Amino acid sequence: MADPMQSLTSSGPLFQRMAVIGLGLIGGSLAKAVREQGLAAWVVGVDQRQGEVQRGLELGVIDEAAESVATAIKDADLVVVAVPVRAMETVLAEIRPHLASDVLLTDVGSTKGSFVSAVQSVFGRWPDWVIPGHPIAGSEKSGISAARADLFAKHKVILTPSETSDSAKLERLKALWGGCGATVLTMPVAHHDEVLAATSHLPHLIAFSLVDTLAGEDDNLEIFRYAAGGFRDFTRIAASDPVMWHDIFLSNRDAVLRVIDHFNADLATLRNAIETGDGKRLLQVFSRAKAARDHFSKMLSGQAYVTTMSQKQVTFKLQSGGEVRGDIRVPGDKSISHRSIMLGALSKGVTEVEGFLEGEDSLATLQAFRDMGVTIEGPDKGFVRIHGVGLHGLQAPRGPLYLGNSGTAMRLFAGLLAGQAFDTELTGDESLTKRPMGRVADPLRKMGAVIETAEGGRPPLRIKGGQTLKGLNYVMPMASAQVKSCLLLAGLYADGETRVTEPAPTRDHTERMLNGFGYSVGRDGATAYLKGGGHLTGGPIDVPADISSAAFFLVAASITPGADLTLRHVGINPTRVGVINILKQMGADIVVESEREVGGEPVADLRVRHAKLKGIQIPEDQVPLAIDEFPVLFIAAVCAEGETVLTGAEELRVKESDRIQVMADGLAQLGVKTTVTQDGIVIQGGQAMQSGTVNSHGDHRIAMAFSVASLRSEGDVVITDCANVATSFPNFVDLARTVGIRIQVEESGA
Ligand code: S3P
Repeated sequence: MADPMQSLTSSGPLFQRMAVIGLGLIGGSLAKAVREQGLAAWVVGVDQRQGEVQRGLELGVIDEAAESVATAIKDADLVVVAVPVRAMETVLAEIRPHLASDVLLTDVGSTKGSFVSAVQSVFGRWPDWVIPGHPIAGSEKSGISAARADLFAKHKVILTPSETSDSAKLERLKALWGGCGATVLTMPVAHHDEVLAATSHLPHLIAFSLVDTLAGEDDNLEIFRYAAGGFRDFTRIAASDPVMWHDIFLSNRDAVLRVIDHFNADLATLRNAIETGDGKRLLQVFSRAKAARDHFSKMLSGQAYVTTMSQKQVTFKLQSGGEVRGDIRVPGDKSISHRSIMLGALSKGVTEVEGFLEGEDSLATLQAFRDMGVTIEGPDKGFVRIHGVGLHGLQAPRGPLYLGNSGTAMRLFAGLLAGQAFDTELTGDESLTKRPMGRVADPLRKMGAVIETAEGGRPPLRIKGGQTLKGLNYVMPMASAQVKSCLLLAGLYADGETRVTEPAPTRDHTERMLNGFGYSVGRDGATAYLKGGGHLTGGPIDVPADISSAAFFLVAASITPGADLTLRHVGINPTRVGVINILKQMGADIVVESEREVGGEPVADLRVRHAKLKGIQIPEDQVPLAIDEFPVLFIAAVCAEGETVLTGAEELRVKESDRIQVMADGLAQLGVKTTVTQDGIVIQGGQAMQSGTVNSHGDHRIAMAFSVASLRSEGDVVITDCANVATSFPNFVDLARTVGIRIQVEESGA
């Protein structure tokens, strides 16, 4: 596709003659911006109010003041109708006979269905040269005198073309708005009207209504004297133009009525909660709203979950060398954090969690439970209080549950949602959308669950509620704690016993924590089992620091001469300590100090000092116990003397990225040769790591592993696509700097 901005610079303005019909705030501001940016060669304005047109000329908003619509649009290749939405049909009928043959006609109205109906009634069809538009910008001021060339800068403009709209004209219109500084989006007409009814029209209606209600009270306007800032902020939009808003409500009638009904029902629920003293319900609604509003504020400042994941580009820049010294505590264990929210929500009573990982993955789980009606306070510096609703107390969410980057969340949710009375849909980001879900959907179907996946067993997952599940005896084809946990969670809802046998031991947090919540899970060799129909009881949880996050520093200290680092309160569950076992076998100096048990999980402080590492054949039984730590273990292998061979690790290919290939590619960028095999890798230690740029492919652990590599690289290392480090280790950069790693962060994009 031709770049419209290119044509702007290489072949002059986008349009020769732009006619703006209606010189109010929006029409005037557009004319002014277009003139200032040279987006049209000539800008002509027309308005019923002659004074406004003259004023526009004086203010330099337009090049020419037309006396009639006919003269204004004669030979215009762009006509912008910027009149109130209710006047649209009359104006369109008036301009119809005078339009040039190659014209592009657009508007700036707040409702699009009404504009398209007016177009159809005047032209008998929706011509391909009519492209509706709506700049989401405005002010309580109106009229040409308030026109500002920067009114649209950093604002959104929604265009609602039809499937048959002229694509070249659409591109030019996008370039025009882009040239005014706006971000241009396109969407169907009906969707636009629904979205605006909810996000703009309803709030205006409520503001008008509230101010009117209070103004009509007996003690009349006196009441406003006592109104504080909250009232002022909340009702600011009630000062908007009444005529314009009366137009908008009548024009977007159906969509507005639907959203008013929805709001009325929710308001009635709150009223009832107050009347009946249902504080729990109030807390639930308010904390869910607060979380949503906080999320929205972050989104506006460009840091939200979705924004971070999809738009913000984060690059790590590392200077070679550095040291590793100090005493740190890495954030809470991701696996335990997910499960603490899940089991807390499904239990009776209150669960208080300390040390919760405030990373994007576990926050996605937390939000999903809020979406299903669970009241969750926090997180606040790792503290979360969950008001459990019991195994059968979840409510249907209003839309799909978005789980971001988290495979653990999606697979565990699949199990616990298969047994609910309502339908759910689970979605995630680009990486999650590529990950295999058949491994959970297939055995769940054997239990009686009804689950649809996209092609190849990929997300989204659509889970049908109201099914009767029956216990299953399942021998897993792969060593996966996620699959095991998924089936045990489904087993809570199943008739009879669910038994899951693993080909090799995998992390056992689900079993330990269920027992901790008073739900008995048995173990018979390689088989974990439970019976459906019991209940969970909430209680306190202390989440240890995540050994998977500590692993980056275990390797960092091991490979850096002079290093001496203590990592506090690290979870050393025997099913997670593969990384310690492997590093020790390579010759690492790791001392496990102050071993203790906290809430059913073994915890210790780890002291690690530099040591000369040697290459090893990694024992296959350690692979599931170190499954998330291989990216950084590969860096240890490069720094070791001799050959390291990994086999039996094909699971690494279906993690957040294909971790075998992506690590091999990244190492190659640094000049390190490796031999990739189907289920592992062979690394010759002692190769020099040069400077280079590594693509982490959005995989948090790849990004952190190469950050560690810089300690021993001969040149600087740049790592791209690092935003997802926030999924598991939000303060990684700070802690890395604290110990002496020379890391800088560069961010770009929205
Ligand atoms: C996890 C299990 C592992 C691990 C993941 C967390 C869990 O996945 O890689 O980061 O919390 O159960 P698999 O079970 O797919 O190996």
